[in-house]
Amino acid sequence: MRIISIANQKGGCGKTTSAINLSACLAHKGRKVLLIDMDPQGHSAIGLNIHASELEKTVCDTLYDSSGDRAVLNDVTIKIDDNFDIAPSNISLSALEQHLSRAEGRETKLKEAIDGVNQNYDYIIIDCPPSLGLLTFNSLIASTEVIVPIEMSLFSLHGISKLLKIIDLVREKTGHEVRIKVVATMFDKRTRISKEVLEDIQKHFQDSMFITVINTNVTLKEAVSFGKSIVDYDRNAPGFRDYMALAKEVIAEEKILGKRPAKRKKAFASAAMVEKQFIFDAPKASCVKIAGTFNNWNTSEASLMERKRDGTWSKCVYLAPGTYQYRFLIDDEWVADQNNANQVNNPFGGKNSVIKI
Ligand SMILES: Nc1ncnc2c1ncn2[C@@H]1O[C@H](COP(=O)(O)OP(=O)(O)OP(=O)(O)O)[C@@H](O)[C@H]1O
Ligand SMILES: [Mg+2]
Repeated sequence: MRIISIANQKGGCGKTTSAINLSACLAHKGRKVLLIDMDPQGHSAIGLNIHASELEKTVCDTLYDSSGDRAVLNDVTIKIDDNFDIAPSNISLSALEQHLSRAEGRETKLKEAIDGVNQNYDYIIIDCPPSLGLLTFNSLIASTEVIVPIEMSLFSLHGISKLLKIIDLVREKTGHEVRIKVVATMFDKRTRISKEVLEDIQKHFQDSMFITVINTNVTLKEAVSFGKSIVDYDRNAPGFRDYMALAKEVIAEEKILGKRPAKRKKAFASAAMVEKQFIFDAPKASCVKIAGTFNNWNTSEASLMERKRDGTWSKCVYLAPGTYQYRFLIDDEWVADQNNANQVNNPFGGKNSVIKI
């Protein structure tokens, strides 16, 4: 059985849409699937037309019970289709962290609940909340794999290294490998930023990325509002084509995973790339970009930095080990990094900053 968390602490990047539609497409391809909603927002349930607020028992009851009488996952699952069940959640799950604050083994509650499942599922897909708290940690510990949806917008890579570090921690804590794969979501071929961010992410994640790209498709949004997966809502929609392609890629991995030696090569993780946060103080600037040898001095939209309230500008860049030169473009003026004394002369009579990873 493969247990796959769909995780990214960034809100609105397509976790739930991917969890619902990947599950439905895997089921459509004949796999037996359980979707576990680990988000107190209960969006997976809502997206499949389940009124989780009215349910007597939900996922929360399988993780904690004040009387010590925990429900089993089979008691809370609801059948969506022949091969597709869901274990729904509602707002009660938000109190879990508080309930379990001192409980022993509080990080392995979901794993225990999954170990107790007596159905023969091929896949368990877990929809994680947009945070890196106890609920996500429980999901990761219970998982054999993680799919990280990244939407094609500026700053979408922000914080990914934190998630990767937590997955490393899970590996250390449990001693089991957790494979990571990224999927690009909400790709809009009409925009330059989509193309640039996709290229950037493909460069960084390489083999740890699905070939399938999930395009922006309004039918996916509509399907949710009708409480249906794209499989049940519209099989002619581009969203169906995309999630079916993703499901096929996931299924194709079954053969490779079956043959995989016990100790696998480490998947993309923080060890391979380092997240470097560049910060520049320019409260009066209206636009700050960063460019350097790591992006061929490209000052297109993807090089834009994010303005903070205190007047500083920041951007995270993923860098492989090596030495890089860079500068900031403050409105129309190139300047070196005021926080980095390591500089070299450049051919234009100015200075480039130098960073060694
Ligand atoms: N490929 C897509 N095309 C169009 N709309 C999409 C697509 N993917 C997701 N959406 C829409 O974007 C919004 C956010 O998506 P979704 O709920 O899946 O994100 P999420 O990561 O689960 O959010 P949260 O962090 O709040 O749990 C939703 O309204 C959803 O319908
Ligand atoms: Mg969600």
